[in-house]
Amino acid sequence: MSAPLRLSSEPVGDLVEREARHAETISYLFRDFHIALPKGTLILRDESLARRTTLRVGGPADLYVEPGTEDALASVMELCSLRSMPVFLLGRGSNLLVRDGGFRGVVVSLASAGFSRIESEGVFLRVGAGARLKQVAVEARRRGLAGLEFLEGIPGSMGGALRMNAGAMGRWTFDAVEQIRVMDHYGTIRDVARAAVDVEYRNCPLLRQEVAVSALLKGDPAPPDEVRERMDTYSRKRWESQPNQPSAGCTFKNPSPTLPAGRLIDELGLKGTRVGDAMVSDVHANFLVNLGRATARDVLTLIQLVRDRVRDARGIQLETEVEILGEDSP
Ligand code: EPU
Repeated sequence: MSAPLRLSSEPVGDLVEREARHAETISYLFRDFHIALPKGTLILRDESLARRTTLRVGGPADLYVEPGTEDALASVMELCSLRSMPVFLLGRGSNLLVRDGGFRGVVVSLASAGFSRIESEGVFLRVGAGARLKQVAVEARRRGLAGLEFLEGIPGSMGGALRMNAGAMGRWTFDAVEQIRVMDHYGTIRDVARAAVDVEYRNCPLLRQEVAVSALLKGDPAPPDEVRERMDTYSRKRWESQPNQPSAGCTFKNPSPTLPAGRLIDELGLKGTRVGDAMVSDVHANFLVNLGRATARDVLTLIQLVRDRVRDARGIQLETEVEILGEDSP
């Protein structure tokens, strides 16, 4: 959904004119949002995305908005479509690398209370896209529902987990999904049954085109103590095997279930390798951590270094799992 504005072959005059037009459209949209959205909606210009991602790098978004209702979200989507403005749906920013030049467009977050509700209906949980996965796991435990324990340690939102079919402890998000509710770029909403959604390892192609607003999850009745025990085991395992410094989680997809990227990188002795303040974690080699002052450029250079080393040594092309957004700084 992000479209880089700068093309190196473009004459300088055209570039300046295009940037001026873009800035003007952003100003119009800022005004449109204030007119169309309910009072109190968070609408920000030039909002830092570094502080809204767990890796803590990257530049600003031209506009950042947190609609509180489906109607408000529909207005945002429609206004952006009318003005041909790129939109990016931000979850909890835990799987995202924003480039240093930031995002030329509108970042939409569903973190408001209206999109973060979790309602239970028997063995089902209706979960808003903005709900934190930890809260979903806790609610399932409270209701005596098994099968959602793996969500406990994923530091993301329901919407993000759906979009990338997030997983842990051998389970995928879509293993627990019955139905998703999605909105297209014109603000139209529909419910889609799980069977009609194609999903892949760490990807849900439908949600690259449309926005998930909520999901209906199904759990299996079980004694809450049993559920708690499993959650505790997962949590312990994660604390022992994953770093707690700022990161975007696993950087690369596993080339296959029997060939984890972390092990591949570790075997090449790359733990502790640094570019600026970006470092291959010495706890888990598929995590690139920010030691404090890393830039997106540092992280991207380190990603390339790791990919080159793995390709040269093992003939394997690692694919990034983290989503990379925006443009480089000028
Ligand atoms: N390993 C090493 N060295 C390392 C890291 C791992 O030898 O530095 C070995 C481990 O000992 C283990 C194997 O590699 O034998 C797999 O490691 P792990 O159990 O940590 O699982 P993973 O495949 O690296 C996946 C998900 C994680 C998820 C964990 C736990 C991917 C890319 N990653 O990691 O998801 O938390 O399983 O279930 O599928 C994420 O998506 O961001 C993420 C962190």
